[in-house]
Order: sequence, then C-alpha cells, then structure tokens
Amino acid sequence: MNSTNLSKEEKQQEAKTHGKCMLSRRDFLIYSGAASATTIVSVSLFSGAVGAAEIPARISKYPRKKIGTLSQLKDNQVVDFNYPDNGLNSQGMLVKAAIECGGGVGKDKDIVAFSYMCTHKGGPLNGSYKVTGEHRTVGQCPLHLSTFDIRRHGIIVSGQAYESLPQILLEVDGNDIYAVGIMGLLFGRNENIMAV
Ligand code: FES
Repeated sequence: MNSTNLSKEEKQQEAKTHGKCMLSRRDFLIYSGAASATTIVSVSLFSGAVGAAEIPARISKYPRKKIGTLSQLKDNQVVDFNYPDNGLNSQGMLVKAAIECGGGVGKDKDIVAFSYMCTHKGGPLNGSYKVTGEHRTVGQCPLHLSTFDIRRHGIIVSGQAYESLPQILLEVDGNDIYAVGIMGLLFGRNENIMAV
C-alpha cells in the first residue's frame, strides 16, 4: 500500500515496525503543535495548583543620583561622575552637546550621559569626547580604536566593539540633573546593579 494513503494510526504502527520515523513533515508539524499545546496547558494548570511554591520576583531598582546641574554645564565640556555606584567601571561622562541628541534632556534635548568604559574590552574612553561639525563622538578607544556616536544612543561608528556605549538615562528637576537608569550593560559587570 502507498504510505500516503495510510491513516495516522497505521503510519505510527508502521514506524514502530520499521524502527524509524515515518511521519511526513506536515504530520510532524501537526503532532508537535499538539504536544506544545498540551505543555502550555500543563504549565498553566500547575501554576494555579493549591500549595504551589511562590517564587518572589527579583527587581533591580536604579538609584536616582544627582550628577550635575544645568547652571554648571558649558557647551561641550564634559563633567565626570560615577553611576549607579562608585564601584567597578562606574565612571561616566555628562555633556551638553549643544545639538539635539537621542535621549537628550534639557530644553534643547542636548544633555546626555554615557559610560566611560569601552564595550569591547573595557578600554578607558576618558578625555576622548570630540566635536566634529554636527557629529559628537566618544573615542577612539586607546586599545582597539572603537568610536561611538553619542547623538545616536552610543552606537558604534568604527572599531572592534560590537555593542553600543551604555547610555545613562537622565532626568532634570529644576536646576538639577539626575541619573536614573542605564540603557545597556556596563563593561565588566554581570548586572548594572551589583549585589551588596
Ligand atoms: S577595548 Fe576599546 S576597542 Fe577594544
């Protein structure tokens, strides 16, 4: 008999008989879909079971830390700070770039902050902020020459790094500038908020 005319049960029996899988690709997709649905139902039932263990969610909360003031900032002059703590690789730069930047705060959306640690192998980027026409960059990294565009959330312009420079999220409250979070992972950390 042609195997395409077999019922599902006959195909499964034939597969057992021959010791190999006889399911067509279409049948496999149908059966595996059914198996997935079963798994989903089982999980949802289990989670509602009486006496099921409660696993507390672990929430990391960034500190709100003052890192500068509007009146202190001068166009394209960098202010150094540490965030989210004073620990490993926490050094960062705050700058009023005098041109609108992605994620920028202030009335001209031109105040941004970034980590100083290159995302490739942690080369120090201190002192490498540059203004070139409308471009605002950090780099070249002294180790392998990576350069990052701080008008576009720290994306890589050139070099060996393959992750954007972590951007420090900012808020302005009156004259004060606060760091309130980080977009990206600081070099050398498993988590931006380190356990104490
Ligand atoms: S450490 Fe910066 S490019 Fe390698």
